[in-house]
Amino acid sequence: IRSLLAGGPLSGRHALVTSGPTWEPIDPVRFLANRSSGRQGHAIAAALADRGARVTLVSGPVSVPPPSGVTVTRVETAREMLAACTAALPADIAICAAAVADWRPAETATLKLKKGAGTPPPALALAENPDILATLSAPGPLRPALVVGFAAETNDVVAHGEAKRRSKGCDWIVANDVSGDVMGGAENEVHLITEEGVEHWPRLPKEAVAARLADRIAAVFA
Ligand code: CTP
Ligand code: CA
Repeated sequence: IRSLLAGGPLSGRHALVTSGPTWEPIDPVRFLANRSSGRQGHAIAAALADRGARVTLVSGPVSVPPPSGVTVTRVETAREMLAACTAALPADIAICAAAVADWRPAETATLKLKKGAGTPPPALALAENPDILATLSAPGPLRPALVVGFAAETNDVVAHGEAKRRSKGCDWIVANDVSGDVMGGAENEVHLITEEGVEHWPRLPKEAVAARLADRIAAVFA
């Protein structure tokens, strides 16, 4: 409704955004997770809605509030996130800002694991999770016209980001250095990597990064 009334540059477009961490259960009370707060993904969802898009936000467990005017689907695991994303298609735009757990425990215990006197700690066998960004980027009738991924790196940020753009098949990569306080923090310093080249953006509040990215996206659909 907001997008129809607002008539912004993205009105009539459907944007799918992933945000937050995923939780991968070990047993009924324990899980594998990461430091993602969902702030960047949620800010992008809000910025796209502000420009008139209909936005589906698929969010892992976060404590940031859901942006107004956005349809939120809450999930816990990577596999649930993938299912929610494919169910949300078709979309014109997909932005994968979630910090998806790369691995999940190969088995989830139905009963809480117990420590026992004299027994060694259990070994945790892992299985690889599906890659949501690569799945959404794969050629096909449901591929969004513009697919944007993030690259969370701690070294050689641009080189790794460029390699990810190619290997995942997405159109743009927003590459950031997560060795400092970016994950969970309020600000982000990113490189926008496209087919045309690399742009370095200054360190900005995550809301400002989102606004700038949403303006770039709106220009594509102008
Ligand atoms: N991503 C995803 N599904 C996964 C893993 C990552 O959709 N199972 C997406 C993220 O949302 C992000 C991009 O892929 O947009 C890159 O994530 P990142 O963790 O930086 O890269 P990986 O490909 O997982 O490689 P690595 O963690 O080993 O650097
Ligand atoms: Ca990863």
